[in-house]
Amino acid sequence: MVHSNIRTLAAAGVLVVSVSAIAMGGRPAGDAEAANQRIAPVARVELAAPAAAAGGARSGEQIYKAICGACHDAGVANAPKLGDKAAWGPRIALGLDGLMKSAIAGKNAMPPRGGSDANDTELARTIVYMANKSGASFKEPAAK
Ligand code: HEC
Repeated sequence: MVHSNIRTLAAAGVLVVSVSAIAMGGRPAGDAEAANQRIAPVARVELAAPAAAAGGARSGEQIYKAICGACHDAGVANAPKLGDKAAWGPRIALGLDGLMKSAIAGKNAMPPRGGSDANDTELARTIVYMANKSGASFKEPAAK
């Protein structure tokens, strides 16, 4: 429970960071600085996970738990929940390539790459992990 709260905060951190970056252009620097201080502890939590294992070596499950679960565990902003076959069925029908396209570009409330720094192989692994828990039987991509 504590973990999923942290993940939810982390996702909010991702969104707030980008909003404060935009705000820096138009507002006095003080506002952005104050905002950065307010979100600093949250942003650190979000950044700690991916930095732990750089180089494309992370498993789909690791990335899912560090980043994607913040929305896909509970269905935040209509994200299809992990394991929800009805929600995933029509998406799985797009195939891994189709899902990769929308995950790379971002889709509606989902930021590009789901807000992660995953490379293509890691992102594909993560989608395979999610889809296979939700009714698909995609093959895990080989490491590049
Ligand atoms: C900020 C919340 C959020 C995070 C974090 C997030 N997603 Fe999503 N995701 C969504 C939402 C919302 C949708 C539904 C988009 C739609 O169809 O309107 C979605 C949809 C998807 C889909 C289906 C795309 C399609 O074409 O139907 C995939 C695949 C996916 N996410 C993968 C990921 C992966 C992998 C990660 C982590 C690296 C991730 N998501 C992180 C919110 C999120």
